[in-house]
Amino acid sequence: MSFRSAIAVAARRTPFALQQRVAPRAPIVASTINRGVFRRFASTEPGAGPQTDAKQGGGGGSALLFVVLAAAGAGGYYYYSTLDDKAQTKVSAAALNKPLNYQEVYNEVAKLVDSNPDYDDGSYGPVLIRLAWHAAGTYDQHSNTGGSNGATMRFPKEGAHGANAGLKVARDLLEPVKGKFPQISYSDLWSIGGVVGVQELGGPKIKWRPGRVDNTEDFTTPDGRLPDASRTQDHIRDVFYRMGFNDQEIVALAGAHALGRCHADRSGFDGPWTRSPTTFSNDYFKRLLEEKWVERKWKGPKQFADKATGDLMMLPADLAFVKDRAFKKYVDLYAKDDQKFYDDFALAFQKLEELGVPFKGTEPVIVFKTLDEQSA
Ligand code: HEM
Repeated sequence: MSFRSAIAVAARRTPFALQQRVAPRAPIVASTINRGVFRRFASTEPGAGPQTDAKQGGGGGSALLFVVLAAAGAGGYYYYSTLDDKAQTKVSAAALNKPLNYQEVYNEVAKLVDSNPDYDDGSYGPVLIRLAWHAAGTYDQHSNTGGSNGATMRFPKEGAHGANAGLKVARDLLEPVKGKFPQISYSDLWSIGGVVGVQELGGPKIKWRPGRVDNTEDFTTPDGRLPDASRTQDHIRDVFYRMGFNDQEIVALAGAHALGRCHADRSGFDGPWTRSPTTFSNDYFKRLLEEKWVERKWKGPKQFADKATGDLMMLPADLAFVKDRAFKKYVDLYAKDDQKFYDDFALAFQKLEELGVPFKGTEPVIVFKTLDEQSA
C-alpha cells in the first residue's frame, strides 16, 4: 500500500471528531485527508440489548493510523483546541485509538456530580442536564440542522447565545473527562452528561447510543431556537414541534424542572421550582397544581412565586402548562402517576439527545449503571 493510500485508509477509519481538531502541527495528515471520506469512529459491536461494561470501540485501523501519524511527522501526537479558549492539548495517537468503554466515561462524569458541595444546591446534575438539552434543543426537523450532534456550543458564537448563559460551568466541568477520554466527541460526552444528571439524581434509566460527531463553527444555528421563558404555549409549541415533539413529550420533558434552579446572573430569573432540586421526581407537576402562583414583586423579569412561602418559582412558560388545556391533561397525569412520568420522560429525553445524530443503526444501545448500583 502506498503512503498516500495508507493515509486515505487511516482517514476513513479516523474519528470525524478528531479530524476537526487536527492542528497544523500534523500538516500532512490535515491537508491530505479528504473531508468527504471521514467516517465516525463507530466500530463498536452492534447490539440492541442493555449493555454496560462491554469493551466498546476500537478499530482495525488503530495501528495503521498510529504509523501514519508518526510518519507524518506528528510524532504520534495530536493537538486539539479545548472549548472557548483555544488552548491546545497534546494527545497521543495511541490514546485516541484506545477502545472506549462508555460506562467508564459515565462513571468519570458521575463522580463530578457531587464534587463541590458549595456549588448551588450541592450538585452539578441539573446544569449537566441543561447543557445536554440546550445542545440538542436547537434541532430543526425540516432543515435537519442543529441538534445533539456537533457540540457547536463550544465555540464562542453559540456559547454566547443568551439562552446558554451559565452553561460554561458544565462544559468546563466535563473538560477533564474529555482529557481523560480524548477519543470521545464533545457531543457524545455532553449527552452522557445529561444521562448522568438524570440517573445520578434518581431519575429513570435513559438509553444512550454513541455516534455524535463534532462539527465546526459553521454548523452553529442562529440564536433564538431555544424557548424563551417569558413566553407561553404558542411559542413553546412552535419551538418543540420544530424539533418533532408532541404535547405529551413536551410536558414530560418540562418535568426536568423538578431539578435545579434559575440564576439571576444567568437567565435573569431566580429560584428553584421544587424543594428537592437535586432529586428527580414528579414534584414539578405537583407544585404546578397544588400551589397558588402569584406574580413576584421584584425588579427582575416577570416570574411567579408560591403564595404560601414565596420560596419556589415558576416561569411564565411553566405556568402555560396549566393554563393550556391540552398541556394540563399531561400535568394532571404525571402529578398522579410518577411511574408514567418516569417512563415517558426516559423516552422523550432519549429522543431529545438523539436529535440530528447521524446514526448508522449499528451502534450499541447502552443502559448505564449508576455509581450506587456499581458499589452495591
Ligand atoms: C418550555 C421550555 C423551557 C424553558 C422556557 C426553560 C427555561 C429555563 C430557564 C430560564 C432556566 C434557568 C437557567 C438559569 O438561570 O440557570 C432553566 C433551567 C433548567 N432547565 Fe429549563 N426550560 C425549558 C425546558 C427544559 C427542558 C426540556 C429541560 C430538560 C429536559 C430543562 C431542564 C432544565 C434544568 C435541569 C434546569 C436547571 C439548571 C441549573 O440548575 O443550573 N428545561 N430552564
